[in-house]
Amino acid sequence: MTQLLGRVSPEEENQFYEGTEAAGLRAAWMGRRLERKPQVEPFAWRWSNAKPLVLRSGDIVTPDRDVERRVLRLANPGLDHGTTHTISAALQLLLPGENAPAHRHTPTAIRWVLQGTGAYTTVEGDKCYMEPGDLVLTPSWTWHDHNNEGTEPMIWLDGLDTPLVNNLEATFYEQFPEDQQPIVGVGESERKYASGALRPAWEDSNTPYSPLWHYKWERSHAALHSLAEVDCSPFDDVAMEFSDPATGGPVLTNHGLLDSDDQARGEHQGPPPHDQRGVPGFQGQGT
Ligand SMILES: [Fe+2]
Repeated sequence: MTQLLGRVSPEEENQFYEGTEAAGLRAAWMGRRLERKPQVEPFAWRWSNAKPLVLRSGDIVTPDRDVERRVLRLANPGLDHGTTHTISAALQLLLPGENAPAHRHTPTAIRWVLQGTGAYTTVEGDKCYMEPGDLVLTPSWTWHDHNNEGTEPMIWLDGLDTPLVNNLEATFYEQFPEDQQPIVGVGESERKYASGALRPAWEDSNTPYSPLWHYKWERSHAALHSLAEVDCSPFDDVAMEFSDPATGGPVLTNHGLLDSDDQARGEHQGPPPHDQRGVPGFQGQGT
């Protein structure tokens, strides 16, 4: 309860507040809150529920220029929009022969491949064939399109920092003039920069994001198992951070990305309580 100083009458106090409202001002001591309760709720999206609906969406729409991407978003029950207050995750389906047309946007995107082979994402002209477990980045304002030249449906998890960028009023979007951007190489980013501590000797990093945008599962898997043989964290168990090979820092400015093997070393304490994460399950099972 706010203590009044007694220098004004109740009528004068009401006039004061009417005056502040009329002037576009609000007295910060009214309804003051010292804590803000998080609105994001813990929630598990079950693959057994989602997968049939993702496949069924292939009978509902196609990713043409009206639809752009055939995705089902992971809607947090505590929010009007988004999977968390900073991340929007979605499950995307691309059927054989389909093209999700080329565009770019300021929100950064990641793709975690869940099922299928034969599809590729082109990032700035680099054709990246995707396999289950792969991580593919499309950093802010990079051209990207998805194409399935295989024979089976392809499903992956998209993660974008759209809620964060929207709150910063910094969301911009542009369509490429053609549905597919020109191909200038195949797997070039992966072949140039995926050797861990080794990178091209003649190049300086001049991009605000990792020049490696395709992290193959076979490399991630092998690295996790090597780490499990020697060490683990009490919070993350066996977890490795995807890093920019040019700087050693995070691959993206707004995303921290970990790959973990939570059964390799047994029980652990889980992440710190302030940590907010989306955890896509890929192999195995657990709680
Ligand atoms: Fe996109």
